[in-house]
Amino acid sequence: MYKTNINELALFGGKPIFNELLHVGRPNIGNREQLLARINNLLDRRWLSNNGPFVQELEQKLAGYLGVKHCIAMCNATVALEIAARALGLQGEVILPSFTFIASAHALQWLGITPVFCDVDPLTHNIDPIKVENVITQYTTGILGVHVWGRACNIDKLSSIAKKHGLRLMFDAAHAFGCTHQGKLIGGFGELEVFSFHATKFFNSFEGGAVTTTNDELAEKLRRMRNFGFAGLDNVIDIGTNGKMSEVSAAMGLTSFESMNEFIEANHNNYLVYSNGLDDISGVQLIKYSEKEKNNYQYIVIEIDEGSTGLSRDLLIKVLHAENVRARRYFYPGCHQMEPYRSNFPKAKLALPETEKLTSKVLQLPSGTAVGEEDISRICELIRFAVVNGAEISTLPESR
Ligand SMILES: Cc1ncc(COP(=O)(O)O)c(C=O)c1O
Repeated sequence: MYKTNINELALFGGKPIFNELLHVGRPNIGNREQLLARINNLLDRRWLSNNGPFVQELEQKLAGYLGVKHCIAMCNATVALEIAARALGLQGEVILPSFTFIASAHALQWLGITPVFCDVDPLTHNIDPIKVENVITQYTTGILGVHVWGRACNIDKLSSIAKKHGLRLMFDAAHAFGCTHQGKLIGGFGELEVFSFHATKFFNSFEGGAVTTTNDELAEKLRRMRNFGFAGLDNVIDIGTNGKMSEVSAAMGLTSFESMNEFIEANHNNYLVYSNGLDDISGVQLIKYSEKEKNNYQYIVIEIDEGSTGLSRDLLIKVLHAENVRARRYFYPGCHQMEPYRSNFPKAKLALPETEKLTSKVLQLPSGTAVGEEDISRICELIRFAVVNGAEISTLPESR
């Protein structure tokens, strides 16, 4: 036990447990020498962007690993989502969860498509297919599923709903690199899937992303669209944008790829230490990953049941932050509570009761290669201490 009395909590003036900040999503860095060698290489070549050799190598390696025909590297997942939605011809309304990062909704809105928020299944945190059917209208053109925490959506049901109603189906797989659905790596489901390789993702290319698909025609279109619509030298045949991945990002992506298994192992180990440390704390529930599937274990997500803990998720975050544990509320407050959606759909929350509940009780804890077992044990003890003393902590003025 590191604290014996609540006055020792940093929130009430005690010394923080950690001298340095512990972050969610602190980047994993692979083999530095390999990365620097690649950077020297690309500088020597003077080929810095525009479908360079490292981008091509990364695309081939990722396609091979994921078992998909096409992998189109992009500058980030947000632009990749925009390009993907446009390539699929989405317009009117597209159904997606509100319990996702705001980029999923913004990518649609940016194209003039109305995001229609659908509630989630409280057990999986993913879009609830049963509720999808309720929000289909004559304007609906597609469904954007999000594999939240790398746990696959109910792909089978979403696929049959899409088929039944003639809708296009794509997935935001930003969390799901290295994760499986029914034993098959995510990347080949729906008409296309979009990954993020942002610095905070366990597999990063500084900034970056990719679209994967098995459809040749779609792949051609995606490649063109990411490069201003060029079909050849001086020949633009369609509207496009600049979604290209740079060579330095691809160099980092290739280097991350080489260390990917180590990153997953570190994440898995961290998950097990968290699981062990939080297991018997009443009112604190660590999300589970199926033993039958692969996951990257990047996300250490807990749900706080205030009725049992005596302190709210937000107060627990305050306690943790004061101790230099930068836990994060995810995806608080939900896309439907952010602008422009909050103003555009003021009644959305009425149809999203599970999303509303989740956004008030979910928090994410630090993990990744920058966080050690000892750190995690101390975080778990701190959470235990806060919960044991939850009722008392909640009454103090500093807690408000
Ligand atoms: C679910 C989801 N979608 C999209 C994105 C956007 O990714 P990027 O930062 O690569 O644009 C993120 C990033 O965190 C995300 O979590």
